[in-house]
Amino acid sequence: MSDDCILVRRAGPLRGEVVIPGAKNSVLKLMAATLMADGEFLLTNVPDIADVQIMADLLAAIGVHTHHLGGGQLRMVNSGGLRPVAPYELAERIRASVNVLGPLVGRCGEVSLALPGGDDFGSRPIDMHLRGLEAMGATVDVHGGVVEARAEYLHGADITLEFPSVGATENILTAAVFAKGTTTIDNAAREPEIADLCNFLVAMGAEIEGIGSSTLVVHGVERDTLHGATHAVVPDRIQAATYMAATAVSGGEVVLRGARADHMEMLLRRFREMGLSIMPVDPTNPCAGLVVHAQGRLRSIDVATLPYPGIATDYKPLVVTMLAVADGVGIVTENLYPGRFRYVEELQRLGADIRADGHHAVVRGVEQLRGTRVDAPDIRAGAALVVAGLAADGETCVHGVHHVDRGYDDLVGRLAALGADIERVPAG
Ligand code: EPU
Repeated sequence: MSDDCILVRRAGPLRGEVVIPGAKNSVLKLMAATLMADGEFLLTNVPDIADVQIMADLLAAIGVHTHHLGGGQLRMVNSGGLRPVAPYELAERIRASVNVLGPLVGRCGEVSLALPGGDDFGSRPIDMHLRGLEAMGATVDVHGGVVEARAEYLHGADITLEFPSVGATENILTAAVFAKGTTTIDNAAREPEIADLCNFLVAMGAEIEGIGSSTLVVHGVERDTLHGATHAVVPDRIQAATYMAATAVSGGEVVLRGARADHMEMLLRRFREMGLSIMPVDPTNPCAGLVVHAQGRLRSIDVATLPYPGIATDYKPLVVTMLAVADGVGIVTENLYPGRFRYVEELQRLGADIRADGHHAVVRGVEQLRGTRVDAPDIRAGAALVVAGLAADGETCVHGVHHVDRGYDDLVGRLAALGADIERVPAG
């Protein structure tokens, strides 16, 4: 675990280009899906982040081996003979460890998983994942913090999620790939990372209809039908939003190579209302990227987090940081994680005027933040505190950098290349 801290000072407008790396919340699921077939897999556009290594360690314990080829490429080899057990010391390190559930129960007919860890923002149950597996015929037992699921063969089922949970959709989807018959998942989550997983599964030989919609139809195939595949990870919309927020509070013009407007439409609409200009690099090519231009003070807006295509909860610390220096008052409502306002205290230490109560935060923009020492409570909040430091007078020292490393591929280097006054130093 890194003891470093990030030192950041206000440096004026950012300029230049940043390449947006692949999405953490896709690559970890793609890696877990390699449990589903013997063979070799090549993943490209893989971000260089700590969670990829943690997932690689977990998969190695189960029987899939990961080789870092450099240049954002991972070769993964599944030679069969899997041990469908996710031990506590590995599973507790990341939330995405829960994503081995569907692949292993589908492929091996059994799985034992220590309940996953992840970020500390309140209770994150997996009841919907488990009810979905039970609907497909699995026997599920939870005792002593361990989930055991078993089914010689799963069968197709019609499953309606009571909430479009990302993780539940992914686990039910992967399990359904080997179920006998057809499974329909209604009210499925439709984040771009889920479409990415569906496309990878299809490249492996799965049969899935409705990709990108809220109704996924999976026609089960035999266990030995799936095979290795090559796949480029979808660009990370949360990292893209982070560089937009950095430009928003600093001013300037930055090209976000690879950022997909079609994956972040609602956020772009709201950012434009706040005063940002955001244009495609090439209107004929949605993959070419976006140009963000920021000038003058941001305007406040009200924002509520919602499942995709709404404003993602992962954007919220960035939005709150932008509102902290905007002109006016903005009300932010969190609809996914009640505890996800912990970073507010850290922003207050920087001089932000925010009142948070339950699901709501009232953010009264101030002209100026003041740099000081702050602690990152989780990945997204850590990045937001770095962005706040770009807008603060004096020096901001962000501790808890290991959280940022879990989801950001060289945040410091990328911001420095855009002209930010930022460095990573050992915590003193
Ligand atoms: N929920 C339940 N029961 C379930 C599943 C979910 O009550 O069985 C609740 C959760 O407690 C939460 C809400 O539903 O209140 C949303 O949970 P969801 O299952 O959609 O989220 P997740 O799969 O646990 C992923 C991302 C999160 C991101 C959320 C929402 C990964 C590894 N994590 O979590 O990303 O915030 O979707 O978009 O994909 C991050 O990257 O920093 C991060 C936390």
